[in-house]
Amino acid sequence: MIEINGLKKQFQNETVIEYEDITFESGKSYMLLGASGCGKSTLLNIIAGILSPSEGSVTIDGTVMTKESQKKKDKFRIKKIGYIFQDFKLIEDMTVMDNINILKLEGIKTDDAPKILDELGISEKKNSKIKHLSGGQKQRVAIARALVKKPEIILADEPTGNLNFAIGEEVIKELVRASVGKTLIAVTHDERLSKYFDTVIDMNNITSGRRDIVKEDEKNA
Ligand SMILES: Nc1ncnc2c1ncn2[C@@H]1O[C@H](COP(=O)(O)OP(=O)(O)O)[C@@H](O)[C@H]1O
Ligand SMILES: [Mg+2]
Repeated sequence: MIEINGLKKQFQNETVIEYEDITFESGKSYMLLGASGCGKSTLLNIIAGILSPSEGSVTIDGTVMTKESQKKKDKFRIKKIGYIFQDFKLIEDMTVMDNINILKLEGIKTDDAPKILDELGISEKKNSKIKHLSGGQKQRVAIARALVKKPEIILADEPTGNLNFAIGEEVIKELVRASVGKTLIAVTHDERLSKYFDTVIDMNNITSGRRDIVKEDEKNA
């Protein structure tokens, strides 16, 4: 379970983002919806321990992560969080497998990579350089890399942002399927994708102190 309480982030340029308290239950999937600039990426970065909040706390399974040292937060992220960045953070001149094998430098076993690439339908690209892949294929590599470490938490920042709707929908379906039993928090602009998630959180209202749960279904019940 991930709990955010009294969270506030003030940047040096005085932008202030205030978040309503949210609890993310373990094993559930959440879609964060909201206009550009409302603070979605900042929230994912705070949950991941990459950014520190100005006020408030993030508690993960009872541990107040925001009180921990940066070293501990980094260790937790490396072991437990699969983070799919908006810009993929893949190395264009390296192959798919080499991009995944980079994780070995962090002590992560990548033995499952072929199986995961296969499930995502890109195993035939494993020896291709990233620069030769389509946007949808790159997105799948970024997802595969996040899944290889078997994270308990998956954070995905606009995983469909660079894709057309049909391919984006496929990617979301695969991401949700691969995240069964894990906590998935995915940012997307597209309300049409909400049906794939357990819960949709409308972030547009959060900075004004109101949070609406748009939809809650019993998909995993
Ligand atoms: N490093 C930063 N320095 C200053 N302002 C920032 C920084 N990162 C984000 N912001 C500002 O914080 C707000 C929220 O940004 P962000 O979390 O990226 O929004 P979203 O992901 O919802 O589009 C925006 O106004 C953005 O300009
Ligand atoms: Mg963003």
